[in-house]
Amino acid sequence: MAAVLVAGVLVADVVVEPAPVPDEVTYPALAMRDVTKTYALGAVSVQALRGVSFTVEHGEHVAIMGASGSGKSTLMNILGCLDIPTTGRYVLDGIDVRDVDEYDLAQIRNRMIGFVFQSFNLIPRTSALSNVELPLVYAGVKGKERRRRALEALDQVGLADRVEHMPNELSGGQQQRVAIARAIVTNPAIVLADEPTGNLDSSASSEIMQIFVRLHNEGRTVLLITHEDDIARYSARVIVLRDGRIVEDRRREEYRRHEAVSAP
Ligand SMILES: Nc1ncnc2c1ncn2[C@@H]1O[C@H](COP(=O)(O)OP(=O)(O)OP(=O)(O)O)[C@@H](O)[C@H]1O
Ligand SMILES: [Mg+2]
Repeated sequence: MAAVLVAGVLVADVVVEPAPVPDEVTYPALAMRDVTKTYALGAVSVQALRGVSFTVEHGEHVAIMGASGSGKSTLMNILGCLDIPTTGRYVLDGIDVRDVDEYDLAQIRNRMIGFVFQSFNLIPRTSALSNVELPLVYAGVKGKERRRRALEALDQVGLADRVEHMPNELSGGQQQRVAIARAIVTNPAIVLADEPTGNLDSSASSEIMQIFVRLHNEGRTVLLITHEDDIARYSARVIVLRDGRIVEDRRREEYRRHEAVSAP
């Protein structure tokens, strides 16, 4: 008979050794239950998400796929705390986003999540270094330490020799690498990316994917949206959306992480 301990109380009538108390309680990285999102546009409303439930454990590498308009970016924006569900629950590392106000949500986002966009979203006429320093300004990190960490993040994405370049003096792939450095400079546990290779050619895409693979191998949880099977192949799990619902959630046997890491 299985013994069950609920909040320290034995509820089955079999005496068992108590389970060792873990040092800290761990929660899934992300968990959604019945999340819907409706955009109201005057008299018309668009149901972008129609009841999405899934859980991502820490350290997973997940690709989100689906046709244009299926709700991928809407989902990613909610996961990244850039938007909130209309109904349903979203729990980020044990924190129900309904329970926190906007200010705290911004703090949590800054601490836990790095977000990468398809269009890079770098600040124009501002050096790569200053772009990467920005999240640390918000986090209250002081000048010298801020610079050191930004340089380190740029070094990690292979741009140590481009730190003073403005975004328009960088190639698309390099701009995306600056955006990734900006996303990881706060050392977030979770990295979310909305079509990070959507504007790049295949060689720049593969460089960017090597970086995501490395971030994952370092222990980070990585979720990225893509339209391309080639990019999704880097992920161990693929979730497919259709009309605001998850229609497929599969794990891959074959996993390209080692192959990708050993590539030159
Ligand atoms: N801010 C908004 N206001 C109103 N409707 C929106 C808004 N953002 C998205 N939508 C609608 O919600 C639906 C889902 O959009 P979403 O951007 O999530 O799709 P997507 O899967 O990311 O598509 P794509 O592959 O083209 O980027 C679409 O029908 C879109 O028109
Ligand atoms: Mg989108």
